[in-house]
Amino acid sequence: MKLKKTVQVSLAALASIAAMTAQAAEVEVLHYWTSGGEAKSAGQLKEIVKEAGYGWKDFAVAGGGGENAMTALKARVIAGSAPTAAQIKGPSIQEWGKEGVLANIDEAAIAGKWDEALPKVVSNIMKYQGHYVAAPVNVHRVNWMWANAEVLKKAGVNTMPANWDAFFDAAEKIKKSGALVIAHGGQPWQDATVFESVALGIGGVDFYKKALVQLDPASLTGPTMIKTFETLAKIKTYIDKDAAGRDWNLATAMVINGKAGFQFMGDWAKGEFAAAGKVPGKDYLCAAAPGTDKAFTFNIDSFVMFAQKDADAKKGQLALANAIMNPKFQAIFNLNKGSIPVRTGVPKTRFDDCALKSMDDLDSTSKNGGLVPSFAHGMAIDSAKAGAFQDVIAKFMNSSMTPQAAVQALAKAAKAK
Ligand code: GAL
Repeated sequence: MKLKKTVQVSLAALASIAAMTAQAAEVEVLHYWTSGGEAKSAGQLKEIVKEAGYGWKDFAVAGGGGENAMTALKARVIAGSAPTAAQIKGPSIQEWGKEGVLANIDEAAIAGKWDEALPKVVSNIMKYQGHYVAAPVNVHRVNWMWANAEVLKKAGVNTMPANWDAFFDAAEKIKKSGALVIAHGGQPWQDATVFESVALGIGGVDFYKKALVQLDPASLTGPTMIKTFETLAKIKTYIDKDAAGRDWNLATAMVINGKAGFQFMGDWAKGEFAAAGKVPGKDYLCAAAPGTDKAFTFNIDSFVMFAQKDADAKKGQLALANAIMNPKFQAIFNLNKGSIPVRTGVPKTRFDDCALKSMDDLDSTSKNGGLVPSFAHGMAIDSAKAGAFQDVIAKFMNSSMTPQAAVQALAKAAKAK
């Protein structure tokens, strides 16, 4: 009798200690989601991790496109104190794998049947040497053009321009109406975002792949790339003088509040429109960037897991991985983020028309070859080459560099190591 009672008491004590430890364990997550829509989405991840019984230590580093975040991450890894997980994408995952600092999260992936839930092109990116080291949250489409419906209407622009000639016609009308034509932030990654949509619209899918994925020297320096830079030079004339250094979400705000007509930006911009209570099709319009309707530049956000020594920390890490792949989470996260779910089994209800178009286009382009990785968002080439490309494009945007000089500089950048 007495023995039984003692056992019961100790079991209760053990259970409460276990609960305390579970509560004490926390995951530290590095991300760069600090704008309105992004912060809402990050908050959803925090919530679901908390529901699973783990604390959340926020390691947010402001700076669109994540350059500042990557610098902060490198410093922490070198100091031997890597966070639990960090927002890293594309070929960079392989670069981190080679450093020998990542965690194997196959346990979560096998239990959650990730191989079945993810397209193969995605699961391959998430694995290093055949083992899962990262969990994907979404699919962003980069080749979007956003517009303020009222600004276009006032200027007499009745449809979203489907090619660059139509775009420049619309641009002239908007300019005459007194509004700014293009809201842009002069930061290298934003310059690169516009550049890749122009290259895709001017040259088409095969050119894009040859030039920006395979880095074929003839495509990098040929007439189509020259035309791409000529188009970019024309685009420059419709951007305001204060664009230098402007954050992307501030540029989106200029479209939201009717200061500007258009923005070329990935669909995280939709997160800003949504956070401001704007309705697609009514307050704002979305269309593929001119000439890119049959293509889809993909950008998949993922969290890479870093090796942990402590058993509790490892458990927390697996819980985080499970949370990211949870279908309920993928729905609510992507509704706020502007992206679409990356896994199967997430209901389409509540997604708006822009998201549904993204889903349809992802489906069709993955069948007809129009699905291409975004170079500007670290999905196409290694980070050294992508950085060197961005430098060339930024220089072109901020100087009187000629298209001829720019293509030669690109070909040189393609050899960066
Ligand atoms: C992208 C990232 C998005 C969004 C954007 C602006 O590279 O994939 O999730 O955060 O940058 O920061």
